Amino acid sequence: MKTEETNKWNAEEYNKHTGFVSALALPVVDLLAPKHGEKILDAGCGDGTLGVEIEKSGAKVIGVDLSPEMISACKIKGIEAYVGSVSELPYHDSFDAVFSNATLHWVKDANSAVKSIATSLKSGARFVCEFGGEGNVQAVVSAMQQVYDKHEDFGTFNNPWYFPSVREYKTLLVSHGFTVAYIELIPRPTPMDDIKNWLEIFANGITKELTHKQRKIFISECEEILRPSLYTDKEGWVIDYVRLRVKAIVHK
Ligand code: BEZ
Repeated sequence: MKTEETNKWNAEEYNKHTGFVSALALPVVDLLAPKHGEKILDAGCGDGTLGVEIEKSGAKVIGVDLSPEMISACKIKGIEAYVGSVSELPYHDSFDAVFSNATLHWVKDANSAVKSIATSLKSGARFVCEFGGEGNVQAVVSAMQQVYDKHEDFGTFNNPWYFPSVREYKTLLVSHGFTVAYIELIPRPTPMDDIKNWLEIFANGITKELTHKQRKIFISECEEILRPSLYTDKEGWVIDYVRLRVKAIVHK
């Protein structure tokens, strides 16, 4: 669920502000359609909330996540889980399905991730995922870029996310032996209690080189830029999420 720089998320703090991440993922679990007796890898399993949901089918879930805190949270929920990278999975022809929610936009090396997922699957098995696609949090990324452009002392803005188009991701999947059964970009404007909390949780990798004072400026200027487009008195903050939802079958 995160990159090396951001793997320090605290499971409790993360969940307090981002419980919507799992709550909105149930359609992807439906697309996975887990079956009794299946062995399913949850790539970027987070705190195991969706693993528990998947295991209700009678399938066995194994979770992998970069964050040791998230893996501990999985184990408390009874989900078998290991610290590891989605791009370097230690599995070969092992799973009936690989599932991944809200993780793959953190993996810039998408080629290695898809290759590793393909290798982990049995021939004929499925890969079902959802993550940020083309246009995801575009207003937020643009605000971040503007703030960095304004403050030379902040250094260079490094966008940590990978938000592919349908065409780009389909091409990548096919290059690793998948046929794509379903792929769609789904705009999903998502309410958030406060943009400041979102920035504090998700931009901590971007701002890790900034001083405490610079970070405060970054957050308050991003908020100021974003308020006219993402905030209304009626609905509060609504973030411009766009999901890429995929089901693909691997052939070996
Ligand atoms: C997302 O779920 O789309 C997302 C989450 C955090 C940062 C960027 C994107």
